[in-house]
Amino acid sequence: MESPFKPDILKGKVALLTGGGSGIGYEISAQLGKHGASIAIMGRRKNVLESAVSALQSHGIQAIGVVGDVRKRDDAIKVLEATIKHFGKLDILVNAAAGNFLVPAEDLSPNGFRTVIDIDSVGTFTMCHEALKYLKKGGPGKDPSIGGIIINISATLHYTATWYQIHVSAAKAAVDSITRSLALEWGTDYDIRVNGIAPGPIEDTTGFDKLAPKEISSSREKDPLYKLGEKWDIAMAALYLASDAGKYINGTTMVVDGGLWLSQPRR
Ligand code: HXC
Repeated sequence: MESPFKPDILKGKVALLTGGGSGIGYEISAQLGKHGASIAIMGRRKNVLESAVSALQSHGIQAIGVVGDVRKRDDAIKVLEATIKHFGKLDILVNAAAGNFLVPAEDLSPNGFRTVIDIDSVGTFTMCHEALKYLKKGGPGKDPSIGGIIINISATLHYTATWYQIHVSAAKAAVDSITRSLALEWGTDYDIRVNGIAPGPIEDTTGFDKLAPKEISSSREKDPLYKLGEKWDIAMAALYLASDAGKYINGTTMVVDGGLWLSQPRR
């Protein structure tokens, strides 16, 4: 589907996306790039990054891939330094790296719980923390009057409770809390806007393949509220938040799920 945004709304901007090589992260990379941004993507798998970078470049997007694991602070530092070395600055950080699997709480080991918290919550904080010096107004290569943007990819699992998702629900609740705290502190001190996006079930993603069979029964698929989202829907929300269209938005997590999380069985 064609974007409703002008193609130059992010002209001259530089974005770094964790988990940017596949799924929702890749689509956000592609749409930020198609609207003028230069793109650095971070991920654990070199081959995935390489094909993502080729695909981005085939659209005329300036792109690099840097291997790294958000659980390792040294990797975060290395990837940020590589981004600055290549593009000279950083305007937008998108934290899209995540881990997930379905498991009943009684079968989940504390280490399994910790692993997802480490990727989703601690990884998000680590990336934000290490990116601060580049994102704040007056950071290297940046206009002294304009701070950067952070977008954290969350979920709606924790708004109520979701079967077999205790680890991810806790992790994403922490992500939403991080979004608000950083919006407050860094919005005030450094003019950085920090927001989140909470996707519903998005077709053609690893998350959907792993989780959806238990979340959505086929009898509900025809209900408008249960229709699947596209990666494009999430990327458009990211464009809105990353561009000047979102200049007065700070500390919110935008739900992009067609209203699904509100729903209850019809009486
Ligand atoms: C129970 C499991 C498990 C499973 C792993 N563990 N998979 N426990 N059921 N299916 C436990 C292990 O037993 C281990 O604990 C601990 O978790 C760490 O496992 P590792 O395999 O060593 O971890 P690692 O190789 O680092 O892999 C991380 C991962 C993996 C999260 C487990 O799934 C991953 O890399 N995923 C990244 C890709 C991904 O999931 N993307 C989808 C994101 S979708 P013990 O105690 O045995 O040592 C998403 C959507 C959110 O986030 C919500 C949408 C609505």
